[in-house]
Amino acid sequence: MSDIYVLGIESSCDETAAAVVKNGREVLSNIISSQIDIHTLYGGVVPEIASRKHIERINQVVKEALKEAGMEGRKPDVIGVTNGPGLVGPLLIGLSFAKAYAYGLNVPFIGINHIEGHICANYIEDKTLTPPFMCLVVSGGHTHLLRVVDYGKYEILGRTLDDAAGEAFDKIARVMGLGYPGGPKIDMAARDGDSEAVSFPRGHGSGEYDFSFSGLKSAALNYLNSCEMKGESVSVADTAASFEKAVVDVLVENAVKALDQYGDKSFAIAGGVASNSMLRSEMEKACEKRAVRFYRPSPVLCTDNGAMIASAAYFRFMAGERSDLSLNAVADLKI
Ligand code: KG4
Ligand code: ZN
Repeated sequence: MSDIYVLGIESSCDETAAAVVKNGREVLSNIISSQIDIHTLYGGVVPEIASRKHIERINQVVKEALKEAGMEGRKPDVIGVTNGPGLVGPLLIGLSFAKAYAYGLNVPFIGINHIEGHICANYIEDKTLTPPFMCLVVSGGHTHLLRVVDYGKYEILGRTLDDAAGEAFDKIARVMGLGYPGGPKIDMAARDGDSEAVSFPRGHGSGEYDFSFSGLKSAALNYLNSCEMKGESVSVADTAASFEKAVVDVLVENAVKALDQYGDKSFAIAGGVASNSMLRSEMEKACEKRAVRFYRPSPVLCTDNGAMIASAAYFRFMAGERSDLSLNAVADLKI
């Protein structure tokens, strides 16, 4: 069978990204133009600014991805593009570009769920990974524990009932003055801290495998406020480590409970927060103890990128799926 080259485009938040992936698993290029510098000035992503930056950059990013992959003079076989969930303005830029490009080249395009893209980063990282496996998706906007029953087929076990894990990291980091995005800053600060120093609650949702981080977020904010009011100094390292441990404990606890119940022998993590060092090491230990094989994408594949979208599109293309030009961006698209 001939090789399939997929161009993947991602613009759901503050990264304009495009990549070429061969046969769903081999990355030929992965270009990411981050807008972090601009949004840092505002302490978070400003949707309108993000949309404008995507418009300015998308042509160049796609061009570079094709060039680096040696695709000059060769059309991609299919174009995969994120059509949700995410910020609707930014999503529309990538989607409109992909539709126009696919139409112009006369190649099919497929709309991809961003969360599915995150999961598929694992197929790129480890070429031997095949369903079924269990996966924890933890990003700035999403926290899902699910089973990948087959390519493109998911059984959701639990999700966050309020804030996503990454959102909680970002909020607490901002209040501590660590800057945006907060996850990597807390990760760094926590390395010198004592994770038992501050006692924070472990929040669970009502469902067996659900998550809830709003209580933890409030407890951390209250702790920081009360220290300030009492004129007590706050150890950034200890607070970061204790907060991080509270998030990781809940994530690992639910994952382990599900592994024990379902008996899956492979477990993967995905999404921006999957690059967190404590989560990676705690989850790895938990898997080792149960003789479960642990998969985790390298950090550049954890955060938003086009390669994960191209990989997801490959498996949908092979299953015969195509999107219609009427496809719209959906801010709260469900997996
Ligand atoms: O997957 P992603 O790039 O975008 C979304 O789909 O939301 O995830 C971004 C999130 C941010 O909240 C960021 O703070 C978090 O991932 N993040 C981390 C780390 N690196 C990124 N959180 C904890 N530890 C990290 N090392
Ligand atoms: Zn993401």
